[in-house]
Parts: sequence; C-alpha cells; structure tokens
Amino acid sequence: MDLEIVAHRGFSAIAPENTLAAFSAAVQHGANAIEFDVQLSADRVPAIIHDATVERTTDGVGNVNDCTLEQLKRLDAGLWFSDRFTGERIPTLQEGLDFLKDTDLKIYPEIKEADDWSDADIDRLIILLNDPRWRDRCTIASFSDDFLSRFRDRETMKRTQPLTLAYYPLSPSDYADKLRQLKSDSNAMLLSEYHLLLDNPALIEASQDRNIDVGAWTVDNQHDLEQLTRLGVKRIVTNCLFGSN
Ligand code: G3P
Ligand code: CA
Repeated sequence: MDLEIVAHRGFSAIAPENTLAAFSAAVQHGANAIEFDVQLSADRVPAIIHDATVERTTDGVGNVNDCTLEQLKRLDAGLWFSDRFTGERIPTLQEGLDFLKDTDLKIYPEIKEADDWSDADIDRLIILLNDPRWRDRCTIASFSDDFLSRFRDRETMKRTQPLTLAYYPLSPSDYADKLRQLKSDSNAMLLSEYHLLLDNPALIEASQDRNIDVGAWTVDNQHDLEQLTRLGVKRIVTNCLFGSN
C-alpha cells in the first residue's frame, strides 16, 4: 500500500470527533491509521479532546485543564453531533489506546496545550506509549517544537518517533534548511503539513531528499488527494475519504 489513510479525530464525518464511536467507525471503514488530540485534565490525566474548552464538543462549559477527569467524564461528548450518539464520553488516552490494541492501525496522538505538560507528565506519557501492544505503531505529534524536543530528550529508548506538524515554509530553500535542522536534531522520519502548503513539488522533493516521509492534513476531497499523491505525499489525514487507498 503506497498511501496511508489517517482518520482525523477518528472517522469524524460520521461520528462525533475524538470519541470511541469515531474510532470504531474508522476501524470499520478501513482506515490505516488514526489521529486524535490529547490534553491534560486538571488532575493530569491525558484525555482525548481537541479544543482547550469543552463547549463545542460536549454539553459542558469551561476549560479542559480546569476539569478533573471525573468532571470530564460526566460530560456528554456525542449529543452535539447527533442524538444517536448520546452518552458518548471523552476517552482518556489509555482508553483510546486500549480500544486500538487489537487492531493494526498506526496511531498518531497529537499533543495539544503543549505548554501545560511538565516533565513528569511527559514521563508518564512515555511509559504509557511504550506498552508493547501499541509501542511500535504509535507516533506522537505536536505543533510545538519545544514539546517534541523535550519529549525526545526524555524518550531515551527512542522507540516513539515524534512527528512534527507544519513548518509553514516561506520558500523551498528555507524549507530545505528547516528539514536539514529537523533531521540533525531528531533524525525525523515523518513530517505532516497543511495540505494547501504542499502545492509546490520542490517542498516535497526537499523532504524526499532528506528521507522524510511527508503527510498532508486535512484532505477531504478526492481531487486534492489525487494531486497530493501524484506529488509524492505518502500520508493523508482525512475526515471522510476512506476506501481511497
Ligand atoms: O494532523 C494534524 C491536524 O490534526 C492538525 O490540526 O486542528 O485538526 O488538530 P487540528
Ligand atoms: Ca489534530
């Protein structure tokens, strides 16, 4: 298989994002991988939710990081999407990984609110990710270079390759410089970019020259998918394009 299809927040076009219902739909519809968002509750439990506040995707109010896990678990994370999903809960990272343990999907947890994570939080995250049931399929991602650098420094076994999201390149030569730096800092193998920034073949060639597989987020129409594939993109993060590989 040449193209990896990554379910963005699960199969979020047909089920509420970042819930086990969306994960289940992604598995059933043949996704090769799953992406979801992770941030900490007030009592330092990694929970799967995208926004810094709970309003958009639950029936609650307030900041995620002001709520304990028990408070988050009281919220309904499905009703906003459809009453068919009433009763869906915000999963913890542990629950999300447990749900995927018997699949062969690759797993891309994206760290949100990265400044909230202390070294102790990162150490607990590394222990969780290093479980042999998912360790070799799991790649942590973040927009925060600082978080990824702290993660790399603490992940002494180097089992979990971090994934850098988005460099917003100014020019192909700036981009090539960024990739050179990334490779020397982290021996990176994967990079994901906002898909509209990948319309310049020179950018993808620069990543191939460095032996870095480039992915694109978030691609929701077939035309864009085919164009990006022709350009050499190896990974598509999508809300809806399953069965495209
Ligand atoms: O995979 C990257 C993509 O998920 C980043 O954007 O806002 O959907 O987390 P966002
Ligand atoms: Ca994300």
